[in-house]
This record gives sequence, C-alpha cells and structure tokens, in this order.
Amino acid sequence: MSDLRSSDFVRITNQELANKFIESSVKELREQIKDNKVILALSGGVDSSVVAALLNKAIGKNLICIHINHGFLRKNESAEVVRMFREEFDLNLIYLDEAEYFLSKLKGVSEPEEKRKIIGREFITCFSNEAKKLKDIKFLAQGTIYPDITESKGIKAHHNVGGLPEELNFELVEPIKLLYKDEVRQVGLALGLSKDLIFRQPFPGPGLAVRCPGEIDRERLEIVRESDAILREEFQKCGLNEKVWQYFTVVPDYRTVGIKDDKRTYLYFVVIRAVNSVDATTASVEEIPYDILFKIRDRMLSEVVGINRVLIDITPKPTGTIEWE
Ligand code: XMP
Repeated sequence: MSDLRSSDFVRITNQELANKFIESSVKELREQIKDNKVILALSGGVDSSVVAALLNKAIGKNLICIHINHGFLRKNESAEVVRMFREEFDLNLIYLDEAEYFLSKLKGVSEPEEKRKIIGREFITCFSNEAKKLKDIKFLAQGTIYPDITESKGIKAHHNVGGLPEELNFELVEPIKLLYKDEVRQVGLALGLSKDLIFRQPFPGPGLAVRCPGEIDRERLEIVRESDAILREEFQKCGLNEKVWQYFTVVPDYRTVGIKDDKRTYLYFVVIRAVNSVDATTASVEEIPYDILFKIRDRMLSEVVGINRVLIDITPKPTGTIEWE
C-alpha cells in the first residue's frame, strides 16, 4: 500500500503548496462528482472538517454533512461544530442528537472492547439510517488520511468514521487520502479553518465513553465532561495547551470515602492525564507545576458535582495506553 503516494508527490509544507493542492483537488473533485450529491459524516475533527471545507469549495450545496452527536463529545463541542459549519461555511448540515440512543445501547456493557465495538456499530447504523432517507446520493466522502491506509493499529478497536456502510453502495470520495497529518493541517488552514480546530489535541472516536471506564452512567459522564472542560480551560490560561500533546480526565467506576462540611461523603474521583507524544505509539508524562495542579484541583472540587478527590496519572506508554480503555 505504501507506494500509493508516488515519489513525485510534493510534500505540502507551506500555504502556497496547500493552495496548489486545493486548486487541483477541487478540479478533480468536480470532474469526479459532476452534479451528483455527496454525503459526509462530519465529526468536527481535523480530517472530516478539512474534507468538508474542501468539498464545500468544490461542489457547495451538493455536499450534505451529517453530524452525529453520540453523547460522548466534550462540553459544547457539538454546538460549536454545528454553529461553525452552518454560520461560517454555510454548509448543508444535518444534526442528529443520538445521546440517549447510544446510552441505551451501552446499558450493562462494561468490557472496553465491547463498548468500542458497539459505539462504532451504532454510529454506522445512525449514519446509514439517515443516509437512506436522503435521495439521489451517489457518493460517500471520507476523511481517510495516508497513515490510515499504511499503518495497522492492533491494540484497540478504532472507531473512526472510516469504514462506513458498504451496503449503501456509494462510490467513495477520499480527497485527502494521500496526505500526512501535518499536510492535512496546512490544507485546512489554507481553506480558512480556525487554528483552534486545526491544532486541537487528538480526541478518540468513542470520545468520553472510553474515559468513563466500565459501564457508563450519566453521573460519571457529566463528571468527565465538566472536569475535562476545567482542565482545558486552565491549560489554556497558563499556556500548557501549547506544550502538552494530549490532556484529559478519566473518572473510574469506583467511589471513595471523603469529608465535607463535617459530613462523610462517598463519591467518585477525577484522574488527570497529560502526555506528550509524537505519533501516539509511545507517550511520556508531562510534568505539571504543582501550583497549576492545585488550582485545577480546587476548581474541580468546588465546581464538579459528585467527586471528593483529584488524582494524577503518571504512567508512560508503555506500560499504559494513553486512554484508559
Ligand atoms: P491509546 O489509548 O491507544 O491511544 O494509547 C493512542 C491515541 O489514539 C487516540 N485514540 C483514538 N483515536 N479513534 C481515534 O480516532 C479511536 O477509537 C481512538 N482510541 C484512542 C487516543 O486519544 C490517543 O491520542
């Protein structure tokens, strides 16, 4: 597979080269798609966002994007994706709130791989159901990038929007499949996507579901979402967001005894994880100054309902993986 990208393919290292890529890609897309319609699952991650912006430039309203909120996205994330692509890019965007549906499908499920597989499968079901309702769609666009084709990942079931419904018989459009991640970013910037989106930290397809180890319940999901929002806000305030590759919180399915207002509590705890990595195959732990940690701890303990402790995970990969599940 690795010879797909021939040696004369010019590496996209700056905005000028990105513009050239966009120009030729738009031309090729118009030739391939003509007046037909294309659907795309738009998660709001870098890859699907770049594909959306590229196709929007090439075919405008003949692109129909579907954003599925599986309920495991970060605080305000879905709303922001919908706002940005509708208001700034004027995209044809269908929003599906499937949070309750996914929770119901995961009821009683605690095994990590099973959780991942269910989320992947149900994502495809939701997407297919919506796609079947739309008429005259000929193409399915995907944000496949070069490493997706050339690297096989064996440790965990990966849930990306790749590998979408074969039974729907769409022809595939994969406009960034020959690009490495840094090139996708160059192209995204040239297409006018914000730096915040383009340089955002990696976020797993199953989202916060893998940060709620064991069976997911609404309470812990809310704790993960709120504590993650505080962590991100504080990292941004002190500039650590520029220094740390990935940072998030995990809330295990376990409660401990604590005390508040002279009363015994029996509540969950938040684990902070902050790692540096180049390509996610290995990771080292980022040292965070204690004064920053204390500030984050204080905010979490006072603002997040349902916890009485804050811990920090100092495990490198290996032996831990970056996510807990
Ligand atoms: P692990 O936990 O395997 O994660 O060390 C390595 C990197 O991959 C991210 N990750 C995912 N990304 N779909 C994705 O697109 C997934 O299912 C998925 N699972 C983990 C993880 O956040 C880390 O950056």
